[in-house]
Amino acid sequence: MTAGMRIAIDGPAAAGKSTIAKLVAKKLGYTYIDTGAMYRAITYKVLQSAIDLRNEEEITRLIAQTEIELQPDEQVQKVLLDGIEVTDAIRSHEVTTNVSAIAALTSVRDLLVAKQQNLAAESSVVMDGRDIGTAVLPEAELKIFMTASVEERAERRLLEEQKRGMKSDYETLKREISERDRADSERKISPLKKAEDAITIDTTGKTIEEVTNSIVEYAEKRLAQ
Ligand code: DC
Repeated sequence: MTAGMRIAIDGPAAAGKSTIAKLVAKKLGYTYIDTGAMYRAITYKVLQSAIDLRNEEEITRLIAQTEIELQPDEQVQKVLLDGIEVTDAIRSHEVTTNVSAIAALTSVRDLLVAKQQNLAAESSVVMDGRDIGTAVLPEAELKIFMTASVEERAERRLLEEQKRGMKSDYETLKREISERDRADSERKISPLKKAEDAITIDTTGKTIEEVTNSIVEYAEKRLAQ
């Protein structure tokens, strides 16, 4: 394992953050933490409970005792919610279209940001999300802001969902991705925003390997400093 550091990867929906963050973590021997999966797990729990999504008080009570575990795996990172595997369930259309509203709630962010900071205190991490460089790990040694055109992001998401056997449609995905970006960027608490000291990487037209290698190079340079 390379000497430790914290790598924050932020950016809009479907920019390739999780795929690349996982590979970077593997190459460096670091722990990968998908914070979006944590917001999705909470959203799944709220949807299962049938509580009104605008009822923050009840939601706060419901999630107070929640256990979320991220288990590393070769293919996909496994997600356990209160001991039950929800890896596929949190990628459903219903969760995806409701997650931004839940992620905008103060009590949800307070709970998850604290969990994420505890995880980063335990080991060297590659953490991906929307507010990692600005709010969760403002002292991260390396910050990346990953973008791609909305057309390419919708195409990638379409292929990914088709592989999982979902019936998806390009125009709907493009509209939903743009809507999620708008909601995540306009919310009051820690909106999606590039940290001032983050390096922007536009992945449009680039391969997964190219982007992974360039982040690993940035990390190695930072470690050598
Ligand atoms: O990365 P993702 O698409 O799985 O994230 C799902 C949602 O969770 C995203 O639309 C906004 C929210 N999120 C957030 O608010 N902060 C993070 N650090 C990660 C995700």
